[in-house]
Amino acid sequence: EVVSLKDSYKNDFYIGTALSADQIEEKNANEDSLIEREFNAITAENIMKSMFIHPQKDKYDFALTDKFIAYGEKNKMFIHGHTLIWHSQLAPWMQKIKDSTEMKAFMKDHITTIVSKYKGRIDSWDVVNEALNEDGTLRKSIFLDKLGEQYLVDAFKLAAAADPKVDLYYNDYNNEEPAKRAGNIALIKKIKAGGGKIDGVGIQAHWKLGYPSLEEIEKSILEYSALGVKVAFTELDISVLPNPKDFSGADVNQKFEGDPKMNPYPKTLPDSVQVKLAERYASIFKLFLKYKDKISRVTFWGVHDGQSWLNDWPIKGRTNYPLLFDRDLKPKKAYNSVIQLK
Ligand code: XIL
Repeated sequence: EVVSLKDSYKNDFYIGTALSADQIEEKNANEDSLIEREFNAITAENIMKSMFIHPQKDKYDFALTDKFIAYGEKNKMFIHGHTLIWHSQLAPWMQKIKDSTEMKAFMKDHITTIVSKYKGRIDSWDVVNEALNEDGTLRKSIFLDKLGEQYLVDAFKLAAAADPKVDLYYNDYNNEEPAKRAGNIALIKKIKAGGGKIDGVGIQAHWKLGYPSLEEIEKSILEYSALGVKVAFTELDISVLPNPKDFSGADVNQKFEGDPKMNPYPKTLPDSVQVKLAERYASIFKLFLKYKDKISRVTFWGVHDGQSWLNDWPIKGRTNYPLLFDRDLKPKKAYNSVIQLK
């Protein structure tokens, strides 16, 4: 009998992975069989973001999204849409939108066109991504700037109008931390009070070995689900590398590229760290299982370590080990620790 993540957790929640453009386009046979064996949910890592799916005002590019969805359908997977309204990875033309009239027209066209095109074929959408600052206030963005906070309610209304049955999510990182969580809770209440439909909250879960605490994750599951929304962990990975304190500046790469302290495991991950990663994953999944009734989906941000964005963020060219499969597509100790909980 073949053991897999998706079968082990089939009565609990979906187990998903993000697919890179290469994986969607070229379809490497080894990776395909791993993806199909282990996962029953997929998210596109990049190709559905604004700059790719809507490169010019009057031009959408659906070719790769069509492929991505056909792949999910062929394999009877849960298909998640990522993401409609986000300040990052915008097309250049969007960054030049100059006033509220133009921004309203953009949002209506963008959301309605994409959501209605895939109506009934996409199971859930990240309607808005990363609208909050760390202190829980609203992040400065072109959307907030042109439309004020009403853009949040409007985005959810437009998505629901285009596909009344699809689940609509707000998605963010660090929203398990107290201040940002409080802001996220206020945001969900505001969307509901304004007449928007919101079905779930996505906790990205770009985590570290020692952060965040299990207590904060547990409080988040409880507090969010108390609002009547589903909780999904949407982009799970656990970095084993140190991060510079301030990695927001453009000079991060120049400062740290080639610094061995920032890339301590360039060839292999020492066994002691493998074990720590396995323990961390086990404790997280143990908590997820405790609240399986409140959790809709747990998606990893990538299939295997070689593909992870954390090799290039926040510093380029490092060797990170954040996922359950290694660079040879072999299951790691962390994989076994997650399977062994079942
Ligand atoms: C990342 C991708 O993994 C990278 O390939 C890309 O260069 C930048 O975006 N939060 C999100 C994701 O919502 O879309 C981001 O994905 C990671 C952080």
